[in-house]
Amino acid sequence: MKATILGASGLLGKVLMREWQGDEVVGLGSRDVDIRDASGVRQMVETTRSDWIVLAAAYTNVDDCESHPDLALAVNRDGPVNVARAAQQTGAKLLFLSSDYVFDGRKTSPYETGDARNPQSIYGRSKAEAEVRLLEVLPECCIARTSWLFGTGGKCFPDTILKLAETRPALDVVDDQRGCPTYTVDLARAIIALCRKQARGIVHVTNAGDCSWFEFAREIVKSAGLKTEVRPVSSQQVARPAPRPAYSVLSPKSLQHYGVAMPAWHDALQRYLQERNR
Ligand SMILES: NC(=O)c1ccc[n+]([C@@H]2O[C@H](COP(=O)([O-])OP(=O)(O)OC[C@H]3O[C@@H](n4cnc5c(N)ncnc54)[C@H](OP(=O)(O)O)[C@@H]3O)[C@@H](O)[C@H]2O)c1
Repeated sequence: MKATILGASGLLGKVLMREWQGDEVVGLGSRDVDIRDASGVRQMVETTRSDWIVLAAAYTNVDDCESHPDLALAVNRDGPVNVARAAQQTGAKLLFLSSDYVFDGRKTSPYETGDARNPQSIYGRSKAEAEVRLLEVLPECCIARTSWLFGTGGKCFPDTILKLAETRPALDVVDDQRGCPTYTVDLARAIIALCRKQARGIVHVTNAGDCSWFEFAREIVKSAGLKTEVRPVSSQQVARPAPRPAYSVLSPKSLQHYGVAMPAWHDALQRYLQERNR
C-alpha cells in the first residue's frame, strides 16, 4: 500500500509519519502543496498515485478562524473538496480529519456519527461544510472526527498547562466544556488501522473516557508532580473569540465497528508525559 499524508508537518501529521511502518508513505506540508490550489492538488495526486490520502492539513487556530472566515473556509472546506475531486479522478481513497466542533454541544450523552451537525464557530462550520461536500464528491471517503488533540512536537493543551504551572501558583481552567482528550500517537495508530481496514463513512476516533478542561488540567499537573493549584471557572469568565460546545463527547461505537479500541485518556496522558520528558 502507498499512502500520502497531507499536513505531514502538523501535530498529528508528524506522528503519522513516524508510526506508519511497513507501507510506502509520502508526507507533504503546505510548502509542497497548498490544498487551496486545485490544479496543484490534482498534479500532486496524479504524481504520487497513492492508495490512500490522509488529509490532516487544516487551518486549526479555532479563535483566529473567527476573524478570518474566508481563509478558514478556503483551507478547511474548499481545500478538502479539491483533494476529494483529485482522489475521485485517480481512484485514491481519502481519509479526512474532522472535528467534534461540528456539533453544538447541547446533548448530554455521547454524540453518534448520525447526529445532526450544528456548528457554533467558523472553524466548526468549515469542517461541517467540508464533511457534507466530501460525502457528495466522494461518497466512499472516510471522515474521522477527533477532538482535543495533544502530543509532542507542537503546541497543545497539556504542554501549555505544564509551562504555566511551572511559573504560576494557581491556574484557572474552564469546567463547563466536556470532551475527549486524544493523544496523537493513539489517533495515528487508529487512522492507519482504518486505512488498512478500508474504512468508509463517518468514524469517531478519540481516547476513551471524557472530562472537562479543568479535570484534564488537574490530572496533568498532578501527574507531573507539580503543586500548582488548579481552579474551576466558567467559559464566561475566560471569554474567547470562538464559542466552544459545552459537551462534545464522541461515541466510540463507529470505531468499535472496525474492531479498533482506543486506550483511556488517563493512560494516554502518562505516555505523553513520558515522551515529553525523553
Ligand atoms: N488539534 C486539535 O485539537 C484537533 C481537534 C479536532 C480535529 N483536528 C483536526 O485534525 C487534523 C490535524 O490537526 P493538527 O492539530 O495536527 O494540525 P496542525 O498541527 O495545525 O497542522 C496543520 C497542518 O496543515 C498544514 N496546512 C495548513 N494550511 C495548509 C494549506 N493551505 N495547504 C496545505 N497544508 C496546509 C500545515 O502545513 P505547514 O506547517 O507546512 O503550514 C500543517 O502540516 C486537522 O484536520 C484538524 O482540523 C484537530
